[in-house]
Amino acid sequence: MSMTQAAHDIQTTKRDVMSSTQTEAQPALATIRDLEVRFRGEDGAWNPAVEGVSYSVGRGEILGVVGESGCGKSVTAFSLLRLHDPAATKYAGEVSFEDEDVLAMDEAALRRLRGRRIGMIFQNPMSSLDPLFTIKDQLMETVKVHFPEESRQEALERCRRALSAAGSDDPDGWMARYPHQMSGGMIQRVMIGLALLGDPSLLIADEPTTALDVTTQAQVLRVIKQLSRERDMSVILITHDMGVVAEVCDRVAVMYLGQVVETAPVEELFAHPRHPYTRGLLASTPPMAGPIPDRLSAIEGSVPRLASDHVGCRFATRCPLATAACVAEDVEMIDVGSSARHDVRCIKTDLALEEVPA
Ligand SMILES: Nc1ncnc2c1ncn2[C@@H]1O[C@H](COP(=O)(O)OP(=O)(O)OP(=O)(O)O)[C@@H](O)[C@H]1O
Ligand code: SF4
Ligand SMILES: [Mg+2]
Repeated sequence: MSMTQAAHDIQTTKRDVMSSTQTEAQPALATIRDLEVRFRGEDGAWNPAVEGVSYSVGRGEILGVVGESGCGKSVTAFSLLRLHDPAATKYAGEVSFEDEDVLAMDEAALRRLRGRRIGMIFQNPMSSLDPLFTIKDQLMETVKVHFPEESRQEALERCRRALSAAGSDDPDGWMARYPHQMSGGMIQRVMIGLALLGDPSLLIADEPTTALDVTTQAQVLRVIKQLSRERDMSVILITHDMGVVAEVCDRVAVMYLGQVVETAPVEELFAHPRHPYTRGLLASTPPMAGPIPDRLSAIEGSVPRLASDHVGCRFATRCPLATAACVAEDVEMIDVGSSARHDVRCIKTDLALEEVPA
């Protein structure tokens, strides 16, 4: 038996993959464990979008989720809200939020969850706003849904507070406008304001700055980070940009083909990336900055489709270190961290450290 295999065998106990820097005595705010999401295709087949994905986010923590397009970042995060069409979606595994089972929630509980306990910001904010109504109309409408007991004055005050918290220096002026009378940065701050109306304990931000110029991006990210710190609000920040991760996040989950392959505190991940895929991602982007390109210079090939009968490491078709052992059986997460938890899904993490170009 090689040293690598021996080390792997010692460390790999089939334990729960909490993927958290927190101790297990301090429960996470939201946990996704062994989640499988299948969508019904036009031919009636149930195709897996993610399979065996696990991560958790602690209270007040900003978790960055990165990976190439199509690896399941959005599908996984939005499972926390069960946003997908129930007639065409099947879930298996565990999704819990504040110790409640999200997959078992009825419609009424889901309505309370969406927008009130969990806020959302989407990539394309314009499509979430109605061009025919003022910002005030749209904010007030949301308040009415979540807080029907509030008077008009109380509701207006709530809207003002949310817009100020989202970085507006003139909430009343902003509320009087229609969406087309605002810049992209203002619109994205309105979206953050909308997400804050219910004082959520978790914010899911899916590529919140992709459509913005660099200066506005930085402002929006600063607002998100500040909100997280001030309110002890957790954030799941989905991004293509390693620079954003380095700037804003506390911890990172790297996804590949419907699974998390590495997770660690942000400084640890950048200083000691251990999965060959993470090292490839970092090698393909400028140091500590820049978007993940469509084609990764350091990694051959492109992302295959996720097959439901897949066995072994899903990265094996592109990995420079792949051997027969990698595809013999599914690869579990192992903790390679010293002070903080650092989980990697690879049987050759010690080799990966030495041999994969970074
Ligand atoms: N509503 C849907 N119906 C069918 N398949 C879907 C649906 N939504 C996502 N998928 C598929 O699930 C997989 C994961 O998609 P997802 O949108 O989560 O990727 P992503 O990592 O967020 O990518 P991107 O970076 O491009 O946003 C993809 O193969 C995608 O085609
Ligand atoms: S398990 Fe094997 S194929 Fe998968 S990432 Fe590690 S070395 Fe590469
Ligand atoms: Mg996405």
